Amino acid sequence: MKNWFDFKKIIFTIITLSIFGFFGYYLFFNGTSEKVNTVQELQKKVSTKEKPKPLNYSDEIPGKIITLKKMTLDCVQDYYNVFSPRVRQGLEFPEKITFAYVAYYVDSLVRKQKNNKLIAYNIWDNKDNKMVGSIQVREKNDYDPGQLGMWLNENYWGGGRIQEALLLISKEYFRVRTEANDYIAHARLWNDRSLGSLKKFGFKKVGDYVEDGKITRHVYEITRADIEARPN
Ligand SMILES: CC(C)(COP(=O)(O)OP(=O)(O)OC[C@H]1O[C@@H](n2cnc3c(N)ncnc32)[C@H](O)[C@@H]1OP(=O)(O)O)[C@@H](O)C(=O)NCCC(=O)NCCS
Repeated sequence: MKNWFDFKKIIFTIITLSIFGFFGYYLFFNGTSEKVNTVQELQKKVSTKEKPKPLNYSDEIPGKIITLKKMTLDCVQDYYNVFSPRVRQGLEFPEKITFAYVAYYVDSLVRKQKNNKLIAYNIWDNKDNKMVGSIQVREKNDYDPGQLGMWLNENYWGGGRIQEALLLISKEYFRVRTEANDYIAHARLWNDRSLGSLKKFGFKKVGDYVEDGKITRHVYEITRADIEARPN
């Protein structure tokens, strides 16, 4: 009699677990996640995943001494050629880099650009007709403090190119980002050329950035009003 009772208990437990298991499986695979049966379906799902509408940044912005050209993957070789050790030192990039490193980096910028997380232009010298640097404005974010990134190959420092690049990209940023009223730049305390060029352009110091309890960067800001007040 006792054996029969135990047997009924075991059957009851198996049935109960099966019912819960079935509902659990159903909810997990059909209720909470979308069904994908083939690789083609998965690729389609990934490729049709919500994409932000691209912002209407110009592909090319001509200036008097430089031209800004919107970053694409085509620039990797030029980028690799002019992104010198001296420039990388100012940006705290690795001392040694490979072509693949630059390719991955440029690809990451192009992807962020497609997702409207930043706008990146390469700086072309009008006289030499070659790429000599790069400049970007990132959207405000918590993971990459400071919105401005800029560099010029050292052979082109001091000739007014970065000043013109700053003006062209600032005008374009405020033209496209109608809701933005300012953007900020971080400059390392030791980076005299970076600090000098920001001040010369008209950036105002708005604070300091602290890392491990120490001030390591000054924070500068340029406003829409500053840019709109500039003569054309
Ligand atoms: C930062 C960078 C783009 C500036 O370009 P640039 O052509 O050298 O800049 P500018 O000539 O417009 O301005 C530099 C100013 O700093 C001044 N300066 C240079 N060295 C200086 C020093 N040791 N102390 C004080 N001021 C200095 C220059 O005199 C100049 O001002 P001036 O024209 O009024 O005399 C360029 O130096 C670069 O690519 N550096 C490496 C990458 C980098 O550090 N990027 C910035 C990180 S945000």
